[in-house]
Amino acid sequence: MARIFCVANQKGGVGKTTTAINLAWAMATSGQKTLVVDLDPQCNATSGLGLKPAERHPLLVDAPLRESILSTAIDNLHLMPGCRSFQDVDRLAKTSTNQVSLLRRHLEVGLGLYDAVFIDCPPSLGELTQAALACSTEVLMPIQCEYYAMEGLTQMIHVIRDVMQQSPGRLTFGGILLTMVDPRFELTHEVDSEVRDFFGDIVFDTVIPRDIAISEAPSHGLSVLAYAPRSHGTRAYIELCMEVLDRD
Ligand SMILES: Nc1ncnc2c1ncn2[C@@H]1O[C@H](COP(=O)(O)OP(=O)(O)OP(=O)(O)O)[C@@H](O)[C@H]1O
Ligand SMILES: [Mg+2]
Repeated sequence: MARIFCVANQKGGVGKTTTAINLAWAMATSGQKTLVVDLDPQCNATSGLGLKPAERHPLLVDAPLRESILSTAIDNLHLMPGCRSFQDVDRLAKTSTNQVSLLRRHLEVGLGLYDAVFIDCPPSLGELTQAALACSTEVLMPIQCEYYAMEGLTQMIHVIRDVMQQSPGRLTFGGILLTMVDPRFELTHEVDSEVRDFFGDIVFDTVIPRDIAISEAPSHGLSVLAYAPRSHGTRAYIELCMEVLDRD
């Protein structure tokens, strides 16, 4: 069965989309058939992969899901594009939480061809994120190394625990990832040790450095792996990919 990663954190701008795109790209490069699902109406994962949002959200149109899946610049990596329509997003949230089943059924039955699926969530703990959690097998939570990093996390953990209790054995904590790490700042070291003290082994050894190449890549519709293959950012996302594959 596919590993389904829910990339979530209710805080905005912590590196969810960046991680979904670059880790998915690294997985695809390593031979895993990989899908990115853009659930965020900002559609950053869609544009970051150089593609256009859908007019209607693929999960709401009455057509086989496969028909909405787009190819990307590399083999093995596909995208279910996002949709900017807030009406669709509202409907999606409602439909999904009804039985959480819509997305899950599609992912399990229609999209069984993938080894790894990355769901890029919006910055909220709302129904869409909860539905995404409920259809996932692993939560992957990026945390930005900054002063408020830990604030609000207990709320997020509660929501994750609730989902875990609703279908025991399905969802696990895939890992916590420190992003935008800049070792020149004392604060970075403080947040790093605070997060590791609190969460222990589920924090990935790999950290993602702050790297300008990572922030430039999406404007070229590429992952940093293709945009700047020798950058620190590329090295970090490849290392993260190996760690994720090891944790299987
Ligand atoms: N390691 C990094 N180094 C430099 N810039 C980064 C890094 N990671 C992310 N960024 C930049 O930080 C901004 C926020 O990242 P991103 O969009 O991935 O966060 P997000 O959690 O998905 O945001 P949102 O909550 O709005 O969906 C983007 O401009 C991105 O290019
Ligand atoms: Mg995002």
